[in-house]
Amino acid sequence: MEDSNSPRLNKDGITIHTADEFEGMRQAGRLAAEVLDMIAQHVDVGVTTEHLDQLCHDHMVAAGARPATLGYRGYPKSSCISINHVVCHGIPSDKKLRDGDILNIDVTCILDGWFGDCSRMYVAGKLNRKAERLIQITHDSLMIGIDQVKPGNTFGDIGAAIQRYVEANRCTVVRDFCGHGLGRVFHSAPNVLHYGRWGTGAVLEEGMFFTIEPMVNLGRPETKVLADDWTAVTKDKSLSAQFEHSLGVTANGCEIFTESPAGTFYPTWR
Ligand code: MF3
Ligand code: CO
Ligand code: CO
Repeated sequence: MEDSNSPRLNKDGITIHTADEFEGMRQAGRLAAEVLDMIAQHVDVGVTTEHLDQLCHDHMVAAGARPATLGYRGYPKSSCISINHVVCHGIPSDKKLRDGDILNIDVTCILDGWFGDCSRMYVAGKLNRKAERLIQITHDSLMIGIDQVKPGNTFGDIGAAIQRYVEANRCTVVRDFCGHGLGRVFHSAPNVLHYGRWGTGAVLEEGMFFTIEPMVNLGRPETKVLADDWTAVTKDKSLSAQFEHSLGVTANGCEIFTESPAGTFYPTWR
């Protein structure tokens, strides 16, 4: 007999979870989404990203969870906050937000051993039209990717759908970072690419848990990592946006674990 505690890996090395295991992700995902709901009212001109990070940290700890990023491969904070041309992995600091800044806040909490990972876009002060358009396209590209999630479709279908929509809108998909499997671990197989070809890649199966987290640029897709070894920026300094959900594949489609309880996944302002 197979040990019932050992996770089942499919032929592509992707963990297949049981119905009971969805409940763990539901709790962790809801908490991560609640943190992102909570933080919206604190984003404003003059606020430091360190302050926002502290609020995220305290909310997770008060709920009995641990911030997964804190100490992860030496990462020093409880969230990633990526402003304007920062693509991802921006490190919260004493830098103050300025009027018109757009920012992604990405939090991952560990609750009862399950990882809930999500991110959204926020704005400090007045949102300009170019930034608003980028944010809307990025959000919609995530939801269009999620529309592809059902047993029998492939990971390539998710990437192809996102890429087609983003490029039809004259924006570009970042290639250097991707979504990932998760569950009782932070990052596992597969790599979930946000570009690709229809019908290629591993086939989706009920019980797979993973993130989709497209990063979309107004300019060219290339990125570089700054000297702090974390902060990834667009090489051409063009504006970048990102949204992320954690989800599980169900018999007919998927369950989004990180849906906003407040209904403010997008937009986070107004
Ligand atoms: N939450 C990020 C993701 O979506 C990972 C951040 S790892 C860190 O996968 F170390 F940069 F925090
Ligand atoms: Co992620
Ligand atoms: Co994340």
